[in-house]
Amino acid sequence: MSTLLWQKQGVRTDAAVMRFLAGDDVLLDRELFPFDLRATAAHAEGLALRSLLPTKDADAIVAALHDLSDLWSKGDFVLDDRYEDGHSAIEAYLTERLGETGGRVHLGRSRNDQVLVATRLYMLDALDRLKAGLVESARAALDRARADAMSPMPGYTHLQRAVPSSVGLWMGSFAESFAETAELVGMTRAWINASPLGTAAGYGVNLPLAREEVAAKLGFARVVINPMAAQASRGKHEHQVLSAMWQAMQDIRRLAWDLSLFSTAEFDFVRMPPETVTGSSIMPNKKNPDLAELLRASCAVVAGAMAELQQVLSLPSGYHRDLQLTKPALIRATRITLDAVALIPDVLRRTEFKLDRMRAANDGAMMATDKAVELAAGGMSFRDAYRQVGESLDELRQADPEASLAARVSLGGCANLGLDAIAARIDALG
Ligand code: ARG
Repeated sequence: MSTLLWQKQGVRTDAAVMRFLAGDDVLLDRELFPFDLRATAAHAEGLALRSLLPTKDADAIVAALHDLSDLWSKGDFVLDDRYEDGHSAIEAYLTERLGETGGRVHLGRSRNDQVLVATRLYMLDALDRLKAGLVESARAALDRARADAMSPMPGYTHLQRAVPSSVGLWMGSFAESFAETAELVGMTRAWINASPLGTAAGYGVNLPLAREEVAAKLGFARVVINPMAAQASRGKHEHQVLSAMWQAMQDIRRLAWDLSLFSTAEFDFVRMPPETVTGSSIMPNKKNPDLAELLRASCAVVAGAMAELQQVLSLPSGYHRDLQLTKPALIRATRITLDAVALIPDVLRRTEFKLDRMRAANDGAMMATDKAVELAAGGMSFRDAYRQVGESLDELRQADPEASLAARVSLGGCANLGLDAIAARIDALG
């Protein structure tokens, strides 16, 4: 670690202590680095706007940050434990390139608001990607729902055969769920869309910073006004972002559960894409739905990260180094969520539905509820109709799932899936 911004003369840093303080953190800063570069450029421009930095110095800093960004994209600038963190690495680069001018960039900011703003931009970007992935997943589910809208399959409750249902209803449920979660992601984005930059260490600074102009440059909708509130949002916002991610992963977990269950020999309703299925090292006959299983388990990683945040956030007001440990949880959960969501559209598009098998799984007894409803609609009390059908279940030997589906005409029912309305909701998400 050659560059400690804060080192006092005569105090040697202990390598083991520094590793503990910063070892993993600087590697995680690789995720935040591009956002830190953007925010640093906006900060320099903001200083120039208020004549706190000569325009030519701000221009030189912005140009050098562009170069650093290029080096970074090409892999020619490596962030590692030569630096305490990404923030120090930027300042070190600027100082090396521009001398004293580089050192001017930190006027009016602290690493506390620097990490806040970089993390906020990282989260906004992650939410955009998540939303796009959910929209694509919703469209893929909708296409499957449309393609086999009236194909019968059993509807289960308690995992027991209950009433006739359809592929349209099953796949339409994922279209609507993914759309609903994408909306939640959008709301979460709006909720965190505020710039903490210019709040410095958590108490502001004795300068007329152009906070709102800098926020606008970075694309934020507004600023976090109170500097202590900005610090208080560290981890709090991360938790809400993870909560939205958890909802997405929970939708995915349910889909993964359905697919793994329906691909067993006992159900044999679906065949997952061959590339997503693995074999056994000992049992030559095995085809294992490992992808579905790991998608299912990934939800637990996000839940675990949320629990981590909840424990770390037991703090008084102000910055505490504890807050650094919000970063691994956020990044771990974000990576797994974005990786998982990106796989879903293809899984949905390429899973084979065995429509004959699904239809054949509708048995006569599953018509019982329809029968009772018909009798009650004809004037009998529903309770009497229920009893009468319950006593003569054996007579319901013949399943006619198509007729049952055709009669389910109220909005959302199999004959009136409302797929166009769901499509409009997806389209509104962009
Ligand atoms: N790595 C630190 C974090 O994530 C950056 C901020 C450091 N601030 C400080 N006062 N030591 O919190």
